[in-house]
Amino acid sequence: MLNLILLGPPGAGKGTQAVKLKEKYSIPHISTGDIFRKNIKEGTELGIKAKMYMDKGELVPDDVVIGIALSRLCESDCEGGFLLDGFPRTVHQAEELSAFLADSGRALDLVLDINVDKDELVRRLSGRRVCKLCGATFHVTGMPPQKDGICDKCGGELLQRADDSEETVTNRIEVYNRQTMPLVDYYEKMGVIAHIDGAAGLENVFSEITKSIEA
Ligand code: AP5
Ligand code: MG
Ligand code: ZN
Repeated sequence: MLNLILLGPPGAGKGTQAVKLKEKYSIPHISTGDIFRKNIKEGTELGIKAKMYMDKGELVPDDVVIGIALSRLCESDCEGGFLLDGFPRTVHQAEELSAFLADSGRALDLVLDINVDKDELVRRLSGRRVCKLCGATFHVTGMPPQKDGICDKCGGELLQRADDSEETVTNRIEVYNRQTMPLVDYYEKMGVIAHIDGAAGLENVFSEITKSIEA
């Protein structure tokens, strides 16, 4: 059983590290952002609601997010552990998660707090490209695909995320600092947090993370 949370600002590399962690530890990767984007693509009621907030870089309201994340954690593939990416994002979400885990006899093993400075976040997000079909993530200069605009994994078209425009990126970082940063203190007090330098290369960040998990 390995119950993990990836915490960190937009562009910190949560999704990128999640792909590797999921494989190494065989735990499901649960990204509330991915759940919302899937719903937007399918045109569901949830997707229509979430899009109004996401396009502005604001958080989707707690009463919408909490139910979705906690019901996902009730699915059978989470019995052996989970990797949360982008949830919780407010103190209220964190409190609800703590209560839920206590009720179901589970506990958090580690919260990985990935830190990257603002200029680098903006650079990463403005150059990010995501596969339309499989969701694989690239960066135009940092992690370019072999063929321009085409996914290495499935040949799908690479697109820019709707909320990766410069204006929205700036707001997302501010929203993170205001609404999500307090979680660092929250988990510090619970004694389950590890601080990771996210500015290093992908492999170095991954090895720092696995060392903290196995410490
Ligand atoms: P979400 O999808 O969670 O987005 P985010 O938190 O803003 O984070 P990102 O996905 O942008 O960044 P990441 O850390 O995953 O970075 P990545 O690995 O892709 O949320 C989107 C929206 O949904 C929110 O704004 C909100 O509206 C809503 N939402 C979601 N959850 C919610 C919740 N709980 N409550 C309320 N609302 C919620 O990497 C970024 C780029 O950098 C890539 O190009 C990558 O190739 C590159 N890169 C990664 N690592 C490195 C490295 N080590 N060195 C160099 N480049 C790197
Ligand atoms: Mg992500
Ligand atoms: Zn693909």
